[in-house]
Amino acid sequence: MAERRKLIAGNWKMNGLKRDGLDLASDLAGRLKGAGAVPFDMLVCPPFPLLFPVGEAIADSPLALGGQDCAPQEKGAHTGDVSPAMLVDAGCRFVIVGHSERRQDHGEGDAAVAAKAAAAHAGGLVAIICVGETEAERDAGREQEVVGRQLAGSIPEGATAADTVIAYEPVWAIGTGKTATPDDVAAMHGFIRRALRDRMADGDAVRILYGGSVKPSNAGELMAVADVDGALVGGASLKADDFWAIATSCR
Ligand code: 13P
Repeated sequence: MAERRKLIAGNWKMNGLKRDGLDLASDLAGRLKGAGAVPFDMLVCPPFPLLFPVGEAIADSPLALGGQDCAPQEKGAHTGDVSPAMLVDAGCRFVIVGHSERRQDHGEGDAAVAAKAAAAHAGGLVAIICVGETEAERDAGREQEVVGRQLAGSIPEGATAADTVIAYEPVWAIGTGKTATPDDVAAMHGFIRRALRDRMADGDAVRILYGGSVKPSNAGELMAVADVDGALVGGASLKADDFWAIATSCR
């Protein structure tokens, strides 16, 4: 079985101003440096305007930087959009694509997500591709069908374990305090692993993150589930103590 190092990623969403972002990132970078060898990679994904200052503040630390979205185009007349090259310029190594909030608020479908992930890859970024079913889809017993379709449509041609991470985030668990049970997570992550093996030569090595109301009190049991290779954390990533506690629950 492939060795997969855990990835603990913080998605700050639309939260915080420059001072907050600098304080949070510097605090985490300091803890990471002081901790020495740890069994996880740590990533923060601030809002676009904070990428440059945060990137500069953590440049000499192991804390990685990511964007929350990117354009599918390289450059040009795309008002309000941000290209993969701009993210790299700010110090990013990662970008989240296809988050359910983008899919819902901005009508992004699987083809759009695949185009963004392909652009991220072409620009040298690791794409964190998000998938997950709604509550109604789970209640109807369709969660694997939905996630299977999202995976098939959102992963671009040529994706590899080196440039792709999958984040399973059940929509009903995001920001609600409801978390999928370890059994539900095990079933879905096993399903995603099989889909990745079918699709990619190195599908065994792709990291699959769980996201949705991850907090210090549930992180230990979730991170211990087979095929859970880390977490994509929203609310709890805005507090250094909570995010650090989640990361250090990884064994
Ligand atoms: P919460 O951790 O706030 O539920 O958010 C999860 C999420 O959407 C991370 O991308």
